[in-house]
Amino acid sequence: MGIAGARSQVHQFFALLALTTVLLLFLFGRRAHSSSPSSAIETLRRRPPFAAAGGLCAQLLLPLGYPCSEHTVETKDGFLLSVQRIPHGKNALEEKPGPPVFLQHGLFQGGDTWFINPVEESLGYILADNGFDVWIGNVRGTHWSHGHTTLSVHDKEFWNWSWEELAQYDLMAMISYIYSITHTKIFYVGHSQGTIMGLAAFTRPDIVKMIDSAALLCPISYLDHVSATFVLRAVGLHLDQMLMTMGIHQLNFRSEMGIQILDSLCDDGHVDCGNMLSSITGDNCCFNASRVDYYLKYEPHPSSTKNLNHLFQMIRKGTFAKYDYGWFGNLKRYGNLHPPSFNLKDIPESLPLWMGYGGSDALADAIDIQRTIKELGSEPELLYLDNYGHIDFIMSVRAKDDVYGDLIRFFRSRGWPTSY
Ligand SMILES: *[C@@H]1O[C@H](CO)[C@@H](O)[C@H](O)[C@H]1NC(C)=O
Ligand SMILES: *[C@@H]1O[C@H](CO)[C@@H](O)[C@H](O)[C@H]1NC(C)=O
Repeated sequence: MGIAGARSQVHQFFALLALTTVLLLFLFGRRAHSSSPSSAIETLRRRPPFAAAGGLCAQLLLPLGYPCSEHTVETKDGFLLSVQRIPHGKNALEEKPGPPVFLQHGLFQGGDTWFINPVEESLGYILADNGFDVWIGNVRGTHWSHGHTTLSVHDKEFWNWSWEELAQYDLMAMISYIYSITHTKIFYVGHSQGTIMGLAAFTRPDIVKMIDSAALLCPISYLDHVSATFVLRAVGLHLDQMLMTMGIHQLNFRSEMGIQILDSLCDDGHVDCGNMLSSITGDNCCFNASRVDYYLKYEPHPSSTKNLNHLFQMIRKGTFAKYDYGWFGNLKRYGNLHPPSFNLKDIPESLPLWMGYGGSDALADAIDIQRTIKELGSEPELLYLDNYGHIDFIMSVRAKDDVYGDLIRFFRSRGWPTSY
């Protein structure tokens, strides 16, 4: 196994070197002979400047008459995260906040995700109008959480993390902060990467003790049945390792560099970049494409190349484990050749879970979700929607009727949470 392993590592290294050269040529040499770019990339090129002034409250909620306050939370490793609180709805009869619910967005998204559809369609507004005290998470690296006590976004150390740190540090800091104010166990809502963070964090007694119950939209712990053509292409081309080799630590698809990376992946005809969203997430039944230009005011948000690498490791290996630093790095860090796995059985059976998933989701595949459910100690409540894709669960024009009604019923069935 040793020699075969070493040989395959040498082989991989040269493959990587060749691919990196190809990508470099693409990025810096293609303008001269560029074919007509896909419409999706043209749309991305038309993106308006990111609207950050005054923060998320000032941008989206206050103009609509919702109460909203901005909070800054410091993580153990020095990141300064912005968290928003919408203590009640617009027409609340009393100002006393309801039970706290925390919303954790997915990859390349930010807290704005829960508010960029109209008021009657977006989960953030709907929860506030249903009497919940709504708290919004924004992980490190998103446009809303670009601060650090000593680092700047131009430092490569600023981007030296994956979802593991988002679970261990960001979630810990945000949930502890909310608990310190509300003294009440928190309802958790996560979408996609927000569910990886949740499931990893719930294996830790110090975090899960602050959570009353959790609703997971497109839950992910295993990723080996991903079928999204664009993603599989990027995995096959080792895009993650290429970018790391090239010293690109920040992954920002609003930047010209980010758009060129997409462009180079689209250029070879293997994926349908005319419908980029479907190629990345699966067919979304109820996504309103005429809102794309508006969404691009806020999204996509940056993430780290290391995070992409960690996610691609999960796709390649079918594991739900800590970051793989390679044999030598793993030995040094974990005392083992392989990184330790997260054990879903460590999530307490007493934590009620609700899961919403779709038959058209090319990222959170039903087979992977069945495996997750099998490994959990408890039986989650399930909502399956055959025609829903990955983005529908947050942006479908019908999500209120299809999804959020049942999610709210689940939380209400818990009663008013107490302290631990
Ligand atoms: C990134 O983090 C790893 C693990 O914590 C550490 O070994 C490495 O030196 C860090 N790299 C940079 C560039 O900060
Ligand atoms: C889609 O979005 C456009 C632009 O915001 C809006 O005019 C239209 O009513 C929306 N359609 C649906 C079905 O929600």
